Amino acid sequence: MKKIVILISGRGSNMQSLLEAKLPCEIVAVISNKADAGGLTVAQEHGIATAVVSHRDYADRAAFDAALAQVIDGYRADLVVLAGFMRILTDGFVERYRGRLINIHPSLLPAYAGTHTHERALQDGVKIHGCTVHFVTPTLDAGPILIQAAVPVLRDDTPASLSARVLHEEHRIYPQAVRWLCREQVWLDEQGRVASNRLEQPGSALVSPGLS
Ligand code: GAR
Repeated sequence: MKKIVILISGRGSNMQSLLEAKLPCEIVAVISNKADAGGLTVAQEHGIATAVVSHRDYADRAAFDAALAQVIDGYRADLVVLAGFMRILTDGFVERYRGRLINIHPSLLPAYAGTHTHERALQDGVKIHGCTVHFVTPTLDAGPILIQAAVPVLRDDTPASLSARVLHEEHRIYPQAVRWLCREQVWLDEQGRVASNRLEQPGSALVSPGLS
């Protein structure tokens, strides 16, 4: 069974969705770069080992990433899952975990990489927004995409209401992506593309606002 380490920085609701999804893998640890991350308590309540590697204790990104990798490798992780982990990782760290490092981002990438995604989507007046799970590569939020979910943007949305609608979908697609990876139904191929042996399920179109 594959071993998974989850990295968080805050409340950890995506982490919680993974802990509660009965995944075909062993979640061996949750690591935070912040000692006061709420998600650490949630992980402990689920009986998961936790660790804190504070970025403040290291002189630069490379030193922090080296310390983080050492802790991750101590758990013999097959897959490293970023769940609201708000640190930019060095190229060296990303390359070390090539094909084994994934992230969830609150937008339909490649739109709205970076921060404040919901505010920017509202400002632009887009009618459809969403979330993305992708492999992490050295370019921020630009790695190969595993799965996305789209939601309508409503007339009276605020960043908070839109964020809640997107987060609900994050909690559905992240466990699915991890499940596929655990079962080796999807992977990163030699050309750096997402490959899969799953049958595609076309689903249906989201039209926003509706046609009627
Ligand atoms: C989530 O919305 C996640 O997509 C986002 O932070 C939130 C963490 O919430 N991640 C990023 O913005 C990464 N660039 P959570 O701690 O409740 O999972």
